[in-house]
Amino acid sequence: MKPFLVCLFTILFFFNPHVTSISSKSTDPTPAPWPLQFHAVLFMNNSGNLQKLDLWYDWPNGRNFNIIQNQLGKLKYDLEWDNGTSYIYTLDSSQECRVLHLSVGILRPNWMDGATYLGQQYVDGFLCNVWTKVDFIWYYEDVVTKRPVHWVFYTGYTAHVMTFEVGAVLEDPKWQAPVYCFKEEALEEEEEEKMPVLESVVTVSSVGKLIRRVFNTPTKL
Ligand SMILES: *[C@@H]1O[C@H](CO)[C@@H](O)[C@H](O)[C@H]1NC(C)=O
Ligand SMILES: *[C@@H]1O[C@H](CO)[C@@H](O)[C@H](O)[C@H]1NC(C)=O
Repeated sequence: MKPFLVCLFTILFFFNPHVTSISSKSTDPTPAPWPLQFHAVLFMNNSGNLQKLDLWYDWPNGRNFNIIQNQLGKLKYDLEWDNGTSYIYTLDSSQECRVLHLSVGILRPNWMDGATYLGQQYVDGFLCNVWTKVDFIWYYEDVVTKRPVHWVFYTGYTAHVMTFEVGAVLEDPKWQAPVYCFKEEALEEEEEEKMPVLESVVTVSSVGKLIRRVFNTPTKL
């Protein structure tokens, strides 16, 4: 190839997040599975709407918690159980709660298995291995520590990992949804079995639902 083409290819490869047609080789690195229990603080950017997200992943207990602080805004709790039930609520005087029943459980530790390797790239100042999966997510993992550093959804919704505490577990009482989630009038929603539309990816809880559906439903992969 001419130097110009090599250069162009390099640019396309490393700067176009939508490159997907690169076939994986068996020697390619694979993403480290998630630790069975961890706490991470993430900074999220959804088209300029910023959020701080506390992620408590707890696979042995079949539960996952996203505690979402919107910038100078609402604090929301998205509590997901592996039996498919999610509670999305506030703990302030508004006493809001939505109950979702999904047909899939929480993300498996190996949810990035089978991803397509895209090479190495610096992101947030860390040299990372980069993978994509089902044109849905681009995932960046530190080459040395194997910790996730960053990921980007196809909508542009991005996560920057600020802390990653392997083995940290949130105390049991914190996993209790408030009583108003269990009243008759709590808004319950059955999830449909089709792929959700793009517009549903507006809140972190719907991204959570979407990830779970995409990655935990074998027929979709
Ligand atoms: C958030 O993302 C938007 C693009 O969607 C970008 O213009 C903006 O600079 C980002 N903000 C921060 C704080 O990273
Ligand atoms: C799933 O588990 C949670 C927590 O134990 C419980 O509140 C919920 O009712 C369960 N959902 C179903 C469908 O059994």
